[in-house]
Formats: sequence, C-alpha cells, structure tokens
Amino acid sequence: MKASRIVSTFTVALMALTILAACGQAPASAPPAPAAEQPAAAANATGKKTYADMTLCFPQLGAESDWRTANTASFKETAATLGIKQLVFSDAQQKQENQISAVRACIQQGVDVIALPPVVEDGWEPVLTEAKNAGIPVIIVDRSVSADPSLYAAHIGSDMVLEGERAAEEFNKMMPDGGAVLEISGTTGSGAAVGRAEGFRKKLNPNITILDSQTGNFTRAEAVPVMQAFLRKYQPGTDFQGIFIHNDDMGIGVIEVLKAAGIKPGDLKIVSVDGTRGGFQAMVDGWFQADVECNPLLAPQVFEMALKLMNGEPVEREVLTNETVYYPENAAELLPTRQY
Ligand code: AHR
Repeated sequence: MKASRIVSTFTVALMALTILAACGQAPASAPPAPAAEQPAAAANATGKKTYADMTLCFPQLGAESDWRTANTASFKETAATLGIKQLVFSDAQQKQENQISAVRACIQQGVDVIALPPVVEDGWEPVLTEAKNAGIPVIIVDRSVSADPSLYAAHIGSDMVLEGERAAEEFNKMMPDGGAVLEISGTTGSGAAVGRAEGFRKKLNPNITILDSQTGNFTRAEAVPVMQAFLRKYQPGTDFQGIFIHNDDMGIGVIEVLKAAGIKPGDLKIVSVDGTRGGFQAMVDGWFQADVECNPLLAPQVFEMALKLMNGEPVEREVLTNETVYYPENAAELLPTRQY
C-alpha cells in the first residue's frame, strides 16, 4: 500500500474552529461542526498543547509474542520519557471484545487520543463511530482495520503485504527448481496474517506450492501442535522442503518440534517474520534462512502524531515503517545489538 498525505478531517475541523475562536467570529448561534468531526482537545489561547497535557489510551491487544512485549515496552517507556499526563494501558488477551470494552472505557474517561492496535481487521465500525462522535481521534497502530478510513485519523504500522512478498522472494531464491512449503499463519482475521498470506501468494513462484496452511495464532504454544500435526501428515524433505512462519515465536515452537523429530538445522528452508532476538538466535543456530523484519518500536511516531492531532496539525493518513530482511550471515554480529 502506498503512503499518502491526506490531511485528517479531525485536524481540518480543529484548525477551522481554532481560527474562528481566535478571531472572535464564532457566534453562539453558529451551527456546531458535525459531532463526528469535532476534535478531542482544542488548543487554547495560551498556546499549543504539550506532552504534559496528553492522556493517551493504548488498549493493547495482548501479550502473545516477544514482538508484542517489545511493542508494549515501547509505549510505556516512550510515555515516561516524554512525560505525558497519563497512559491508559490495558491488555485484551487477544480478545476483540476486551479491546472494544477498553476503548469504550477510554471514551467514557474522555482521553485525548486513542492508539488502537486491532487484534483483527473486522468489526470496529461501531466503537470507532462512538470515538468519532465523542471527538476523540483514533490512531490505528500496527495491524490494519477494514473500517472506513473516515472513522479514524491515521494508521501507523508495517506493510504486512510487503512482508509476505519478501518471505516469498526468499523461497523463490532458495528453491529455484520449485517444491512445496507449509505455512503457519498468525491470528485468523488479523491484518498481519491476512496481509502476509496475501503478499506471500502474490510473489511466490508458480513452481512452489503451498502444501498446507494452518494458524498458530502468533504464539509459541499454539504453533507446536500445528507443526506436530503437519509431521504426522507430511514427510519432511519429500512432501515439503520449506516452512513459512508468520512470526518468530511460532518459529521457535516449530524448531522444538523439528528437533524432537530428529530434523537438523538446514534440512528444511525456514523463513520467519519479526526479527526478534529469538529469530536472530534461530538464524545463528542455522534453523532460519531469513527473518523478515516487523518493527514493534512504534510508540515515538504514535505519540508525535497524537500531539499533532491534539494541536490540530495535519498528519499523514498512512505511515508505514521502513523495514528490511535479516540473514544468517551477519546474525551473530547483529544479535547483541537487537533491542527486542
Ligand atoms: O501485528 C504484528 C504481529 O503480531 C507480529 O508479527 C507478531 O509477532 C505479533 O504477535
């Protein structure tokens, strides 16, 4: 998806209201801006809002992976460093209904901005509409939503389709004569799993088939039985030569299963996603042939955008993280430098 620069309707409405107020031209009888376009926090006459004024709601989707742990730490550490007034944090334990309740509680509290990492893509329209009607801008963080973009201010996160394409390109290079791969995907219906699966299928050479695909829900524990079932059904090396795994945590679960089955590092081509320390260790140990980066350290950009929204400044609608692919060749050298 291409990044585009479209000024948020929140900010346009805020700028218009601020100018009118400053010029004393907003008569009491003037019709209010449509509720859906009212800003969360109007800049006052004394100047701009600062981080010390900010209450930011971060209804985290869960704690399913090392990536997620790093993402949570990024928000907590950045909030402390910037000295924001309050970070309203919650953990939805990978349940959308918990996230929706957390967003509703934040609307009730009257936070300035909501930074929402949606566990799945669908089903957000009602609560996003409630936030919009309350005048609270929402930044969609990390994964995407399928809701109409007019319901939120912006999205900051990875290009999940590109990550899947990058994984496919690794298999294309490693298996020029074709073959078969298995896929262990992330949470069903999540923007990360949907995007990676789409990109993977888009770029995978036609001579490489996807023998089977099952979800491991982005967790180490759930990937283990998936891989065990695959090994009962398919013969490694004969039926399949590679495995595409949607994150490093599931990859580590897969390695446990392969080791127990007597499979050695390098017997199968394995490509994972994230670039966590665990993923780097798996490359050092010879299990992963590539690790597609997905960067969890999103908080600095999110807080910066949140402050702009509070001050009625324009923001980019889509901010995609600049990412790369890591390889075993320099994994040992880079491992000590990894932040997550
Ligand atoms: O949405 C990002 C994905 O979610 C990461 O790849 C995964 O590790 C996490 O659980």
